[in-house]
Amino acid sequence: MCCFGFAPNIVLCIQDKKLISLAKKFSQCYLSALLNKNKRNSTVSDTDSVCEWREPEELAALLDLELRENGEPQHQLLQRIRDVAKYSVKTNHPRFFNQLFAGVDYHALTGRFLTEALNTSQYTYEVAPVFVLMEDEVLSKLRSLVGWAEGDGIFCPGGTMSNMYAMNVARYRAFPEVKLKGMWSLPRLAVFTSQQSHYSVMKAAAFQGIGTENVFKVKVDDRGCMIPEDLGETIELAKSQGAVPFFVHATSGTTVQGAFDPLEPIADICDRQGLWMHVDAAWGGSVLFSKEHKHLMRGVERADSVTWNPHKMMLTGLQCSAILLKDTTHLLKHCHSADAKYLFQQDKFYDTSLDTGDKSIQCGRKVDCLKLWLMWKAVGSKGLEERVDRKTFSSPIYLTYVFRFCSVEQPLFVNVCFWFIPPSLRGKENSPDYNDRLSKVAPVIKERMMKQGTMMLGYQPQGGRVNFFRMIVISPQLSHQDMTFCLNEIERLGSDL
Ligand SMILES: Cc1ncc(COP(=O)(O)O)c(C=O)c1O
Repeated sequence: MCCFGFAPNIVLCIQDKKLISLAKKFSQCYLSALLNKNKRNSTVSDTDSVCEWREPEELAALLDLELRENGEPQHQLLQRIRDVAKYSVKTNHPRFFNQLFAGVDYHALTGRFLTEALNTSQYTYEVAPVFVLMEDEVLSKLRSLVGWAEGDGIFCPGGTMSNMYAMNVARYRAFPEVKLKGMWSLPRLAVFTSQQSHYSVMKAAAFQGIGTENVFKVKVDDRGCMIPEDLGETIELAKSQGAVPFFVHATSGTTVQGAFDPLEPIADICDRQGLWMHVDAAWGGSVLFSKEHKHLMRGVERADSVTWNPHKMMLTGLQCSAILLKDTTHLLKHCHSADAKYLFQQDKFYDTSLDTGDKSIQCGRKVDCLKLWLMWKAVGSKGLEERVDRKTFSSPIYLTYVFRFCSVEQPLFVNVCFWFIPPSLRGKENSPDYNDRLSKVAPVIKERMMKQGTMMLGYQPQGGRVNFFRMIVISPQLSHQDMTFCLNEIERLGSDL
């Protein structure tokens, strides 16, 4: 066994000595290629761009992707690693506003390296003793933030999967015969979610044979929050069409606008109708760390299940997503277990309830708890609360203050949505082709920013609104200077439009 440090804060233990020098060289090479690109800098130059855009054919040629008969010498492999870092998007660059993740927490990164080096599967205590106990502790801590003293849960490969788990377990509770007999035994089922919920609801309905036409979309207000009265009416509509409601999917932190559905009135309806209430807090869940902001999820403890992705706002790195359940009757296991005799032997020499793998729909399962556990250990719940309070909520407030573009709505969370009105469209709001022309602005500016590598933010149409920018302000490195840069840069890139 040998330990070495290969970057600040990072210590790995690797059993195979031959691997050590190679891994050390590779990781140093990768980290320097990556981190040098992300140095704090007040101006953005070619040397610290967010991305190095290349057309796909050119990139494929530059990377020399072909896999050949013979292996390559070390110096060539090191160059390949540098190239991978060079042409990959620097998602921890402070001017990466494109996704619901950004930045990197170094404690979590250490946990990620260690997870990869130890290379085990989360299914049994036999092969993952540390991680079985650790997952249990982390899930229980997350549940306590939701407001549950007990319950169940599992880490999943992303929020989409966590949402799928919720729908599947909800269906199993309502119709346990589905496990044996399948959809033949079931009536037409109905799912309810807001018009602005994540598309994973549709995927889940398709994947589970419920059908996307049976996902009933509930109206939202201008800020993107579900209108509970419309939920009630939509449930009655579904029933009148012969469908059987079983699942309400609410959202805390919608993907585009960052809206929080009103959970208390939604819970009242679910209670009255006997429906499973799921809260997709993949994006917004981290407000539960904050005494100041957790009111955004008031009523979450009344839900049956919650999706929470620490890999988004908490910067633990992809992937780190939990499905949490209030249930204490082992629904998760009953719904998914297949009792594989070669893995989950009941006559093992230890407590077999520690073999948690049969709760999962997977067999092998990646360890996702270590990075969160290590980060949590390092900064404590207080440190995580401070991050949510200071780094995330001060930025949108600042942006709104300096804002000179056209806001879609006042930001409720860290999603800042706006249109840039180019010079040629100013004062032309009443022209018949205004919306059509405005819809073409964001795609052009996006292309220009990526080709110049100065920053990245996303855009989309939504409902009746034509393409607008969505800027996600969570990077821990982000300064007010960066945000001002971003606004100036949009103006520069769109000055001729
Ligand atoms: C509200 C919401 N739910 C679920 C997801 C899906 O999460 P993942 O990308 O981890 O599958 C997202 C992704 O952005 C999201 O915004």
